[in-house]
Amino acid sequence: MSILQTAVTAKAHTNIALVKYWGKADQSLIIPTNDSISLTLDHFYTTTTVRFDAHLTADEITLDGLTLPTDGQQRMRHFMDMIRHEAKITTFAHIETANHVPTAAGLASSASGFAALAGAAAKAAGLSTDRQYLSRLARRGSGSASRSLFGGFVHWHAGHDDASSFAEPLTEKVTWPIRMIAIVTSRAEKKIGSTNGMQASQSSPYFADWVKTANADISPMTAALFKEDIKSVGEIAEHNAMSMHATTLSAEPPFTYFNSGSLQAMQAVQDLRLTGVNCYYTMDAGPNVKVLCEAADVPAILARLQPLFGSYNLVVAKPGPGLTYL
Ligand code: PMV
Repeated sequence: MSILQTAVTAKAHTNIALVKYWGKADQSLIIPTNDSISLTLDHFYTTTTVRFDAHLTADEITLDGLTLPTDGQQRMRHFMDMIRHEAKITTFAHIETANHVPTAAGLASSASGFAALAGAAAKAAGLSTDRQYLSRLARRGSGSASRSLFGGFVHWHAGHDDASSFAEPLTEKVTWPIRMIAIVTSRAEKKIGSTNGMQASQSSPYFADWVKTANADISPMTAALFKEDIKSVGEIAEHNAMSMHATTLSAEPPFTYFNSGSLQAMQAVQDLRLTGVNCYYTMDAGPNVKVLCEAADVPAILARLQPLFGSYNLVVAKPGPGLTYL
C-alpha cells in the first residue's frame, strides 16, 4: 500500500508529426487509421506529479497551480479511471501539471501532457514503466501522446488493437542539426479540436486515399530520416500535411484550419525555396505553421519571416528527449 502514497513526477516533451495521425479506426481505444512519424521537440514540455491519497473522494487536478476547466478535468479523470482499472485500485489522486508549452508558441500540449501523466500515474500506481506499455497508456489519453514517450524521431505503429498500437523510437538521440520553427499566426483557442476534426474529415470522399498516402509515406520518410536528407524529409512531410488538410477541405461540410497568416507563411516558405533555401512547412489541427529546416538555414529563414510575423511569433525548436522521471 505504501507505494500508492509516493509522489511521482514525470516530464515529457511535445512532438510534431512529419507523417500525420489523422483518423481513428477505433474511437474508444484510439487506434489510428494509419501509422505516423514525429519529431519530439526540446523546447516544450509538461511536468506532472501524481500522488494517490486514500482520503480523496475524487481526483484533484491543477494546471499551473489553478483548477482545470471541466472538460479538461473530465478527460484526465477518464484517463485516471483507466489507470485505476489497470492497477486494480480505487484510490483517487492529486495531480499537479505544469505546462512549459508557451501558449504563444501555439503548440498543442496534449501530447506532452498525456505522456507525462501516463508516466507519473503508472509509476505512482505501481504499474510497469516499460515505455512500450506507457506509450499504449498515453495513446488512450491523446493519440499523439503515444509518441511523446520517446525522444527524437518516433514511429507510431497503428496496429489493430490495444496491444499492437504503440510508438517506438527510430532515432532517439538526433545529432543531425534539424530544426523546427513554429510560426504563430493566431493565439486563439482552436475552434475544431483534433477528435472532432478527424471525425469530420472521415466524411471526405478522399479519406481512404489519405490513409493510403499516409501509410505509403512511412517507409520513404524513415529512409530519408536515416539519410538525414532534409529535401526528402521536407518534401514528404509537406505533401503529407497538405494531404491531411485536403480531407478537411473536402469534408461534408468542408472546413479548414488555415487562416490568412497560414497561407502567408506557406507562401513565404515557397518563396524561400525559390532562392535556394531548403525549408518546408507542416500544419496540424490549428492555423500555426511549422517550418522544417537545418540549423544553418535558420538565420535566412528568420530574416524572411520576422518582418511578416514579428520575432515574438517565431520559436525555433530542436530535437528533444523522451520521458524522464524527476
Ligand atoms: O493526439 P491528438 O488527438 O491531439 O491528434 C493530433 C493530430 C495532429 O496533431 C493533427 C497530427 C499528429 O499526428 O500529431
